[in-house]
Amino acid sequence: MTLKMAEEPPVLSFPQEIKPRCEKIKTAFCSKYGQEPSFYARAPGRVNLIGEHIDYCGYSVLPMAIEQDVIIAVGKNDSGDINLGNTNQELYRDFTCKVDNFSINKSDPQWHNYFLCGLRGMLEHLKLESGVGMNCMVDGTVPPSSGLSSSSAMVCCAALATMYVNGHCMQKSEIADMCAHCEHYIGTEGGGMDQAISFMAKQGTAKLIEFNPLRATDVVLPDGAVFVISNSCVESNKAAASHFNIRVVECRLATQILAKSKGLNWRDYKRLADVQKALKLTLEEALEVVKEVLHEEPYTKEEVAQILGVSKEELANTSLSANTLDVQSFKVRDRACHVFSEANRVLQFKKICDTSPADAKDQLGQLMSASHASCRDLYECSHPDLDRLVNICIEAGALGSRLTGAGWGGCAVSMVPANQVQTFIKTVKEKYYDADPNRSTKVTSSLFASQPGGGAAIYIQSQISD
Ligand code: GLA
Repeated sequence: MTLKMAEEPPVLSFPQEIKPRCEKIKTAFCSKYGQEPSFYARAPGRVNLIGEHIDYCGYSVLPMAIEQDVIIAVGKNDSGDINLGNTNQELYRDFTCKVDNFSINKSDPQWHNYFLCGLRGMLEHLKLESGVGMNCMVDGTVPPSSGLSSSSAMVCCAALATMYVNGHCMQKSEIADMCAHCEHYIGTEGGGMDQAISFMAKQGTAKLIEFNPLRATDVVLPDGAVFVISNSCVESNKAAASHFNIRVVECRLATQILAKSKGLNWRDYKRLADVQKALKLTLEEALEVVKEVLHEEPYTKEEVAQILGVSKEELANTSLSANTLDVQSFKVRDRACHVFSEANRVLQFKKICDTSPADAKDQLGQLMSASHASCRDLYECSHPDLDRLVNICIEAGALGSRLTGAGWGGCAVSMVPANQVQTFIKTVKEKYYDADPNRSTKVTSSLFASQPGGGAAIYIQSQISD
């Protein structure tokens, strides 16, 4: 394998902000392994500003990286062991396996399985039969199961650490693509948004992420707008349930039924963006076609199989995934309506940021709120507590508010005028958190303003004392 030049060196000088944290991780590392780490890999979580559940349909999304991240301190070992420790020992137990012999347990999505996804993905990508043994100490600050991409931060960080410890270097887009693929080893069929922004983020700017090929374009957010994240405190682990993959399958079936109805070879189509392109439709026209072709009532599995002209067994191969084999009905029309309209909102959002009309903030806020309504009503990926939180955020002065990430719980992101952030936070705290003891203890880590942060990188231990 020849070494490739990355777009930027993946090794960055040590930023002051993370020094104290790395010192803490180093202490835990030294006491566990009796040696110093040689480097730190860092990968951030993200907040998606708009464009939910459309990346796996081939459409662009608009996230920014957040300050919360996963940092892994790494040292080599000669035994070929992968030793994982976590600074939060109460929640995350130690794990050990051999670098050339491990399995990923899909039915039990514990933290170390996400590390193993990144490890396996990178070893396969680099075509290494056996990689270097690694001692690791992991420290994560992204709240788990909250829609801020804690799982992808772990997968990306593990893959980056594996790349570096084995002496390789890759393009950011290549490693992001690889991580999107290898996160599927845990069983969820996510798109590539989380991994793309984790690697391609740049401090101070949100990004329009486009797929096939993967690209990231700066999006300058309007002055005077602050994005505030609030956690509903309803945890939602997408790998532990099937609703995420059901949505992926519903979009795939919508694609295939549309393709078939328009005389295309439906087996060639898996993503709504591809069928839209093949039919040479605008997003608005695609929406009309959906309303014309697909009926509102859920489709039974028999009906889908009949429309596509296959047996139910064959449908499992062409369209379903392991944890959706038993699903009997699919809300194909509503899901497709969400996808085409949400894809359009992303383009409008980007255009408003680029042209910055006088009422930019109001327009962006309206798009965010329309996105939430679509997620809630058409995609059915919200949660009553999250809907309540979004309403409270609007009442508290947000210009727009919406669920962010996969949904079914997790966080809302709100756009708030900069001069109203303090009042906003105070009101949301009183109305959503203070009344509930389970929430009030978590308010500091659950309600905060966020600036666009930088992307994944490697930091060298020998530079820490510079
Ligand atoms: C998860 C997935 C992403 C994306 C979002 C929903 O975070 O990992 O790829 O599909 O859900 O927008």
